[in-house]
Amino acid sequence: MIDTGTERSALFVTLEGIEGVGKSTHLAAVAAYLREHGHDVVVTREPGGAPVAEAIRDLLLGARGAAMSHDAELLLMFAARAEHLDKLVRPALVAGRTVVCDRFTDATYAYQGGGRGIDLARIAVLEDLIQAGLQPDLTLLLDAPVEVALARARARGGADRFELERSAFFERVRAVYLKRAMAAPHRTRIVDASGTPETVAALLIAALAELARR
Ligand code: TMP
Repeated sequence: MIDTGTERSALFVTLEGIEGVGKSTHLAAVAAYLREHGHDVVVTREPGGAPVAEAIRDLLLGARGAAMSHDAELLLMFAARAEHLDKLVRPALVAGRTVVCDRFTDATYAYQGGGRGIDLARIAVLEDLIQAGLQPDLTLLLDAPVEVALARARARGGADRFELERSAFFERVRAVYLKRAMAAPHRTRIVDASGTPETVAALLIAALAELARR
C-alpha cells in the first residue's frame, strides 16, 4: 500500500473522535504530512463529501432531523456514505489519490451503535452492503475524556443535533470507538487528544508516521 520508493500508493485515511477532540483542526496537519511524503491528497468528510451526501448531512444535523427515528438516522448515514463512496472516495482511490476523511464507518458504530443503542450486527449488514469490503487503511482516533472534549466543543458554540446530546451519550460513543480501535490495531492508532493543540499534533503525526511505515 505504502511507500515503495518515490511513488506512493493511494491510501484511505480516516480521523475519528467525539466532538471537541480537535479533528477538524488536525485534519490539515494530516493532509500536509501525507503531501510532504509524496501523496496526492483529497480531504473530505462524512456525512457529506459529495453534493447529495451534503444535502443528507443538512437533514441529519439540522433541527429538522430532531424527530428522526434511530433507524432512519442509520440509513441516512449509509445513504450519504454510498453517495460519497461512489462520487468521490472510490474514483479518487482508483486515480491513485490518497483520501483523508473526517469520520467514516467507525463513527456509525460509535454514534448509532454506542450512542443510540442500535445493534452493532445490524450496522455490520449495512457496512457490508455499502462498502463491499472497502475499509480505511489507517484510522487515527483522537481520544480525550468526555468532559474535556465537551467543554471544548461547547466553548466553540453553534452546536448541531449531536452536540446537544448529554455526556452519557458521548461516554457510550467513546467506549465503542476505543473498543473498535483496540480490535483493529493493524489500521488504528489511539492518540491522546487531551493536551494542547501542538502536543496533540505531534502525537498524531508520530502515530501516522508509524502506521504509514508498516
Ligand atoms: P462533524 O463532522 O462536524 O463532527 O459532525 C458530524 C456529526 O455526525 C457528528 O456529531 C457525528 C455524527 N455522525 C454519526 O452520528 N454517524 C456517522 O456515521 C457519522 C459519519 C457522523
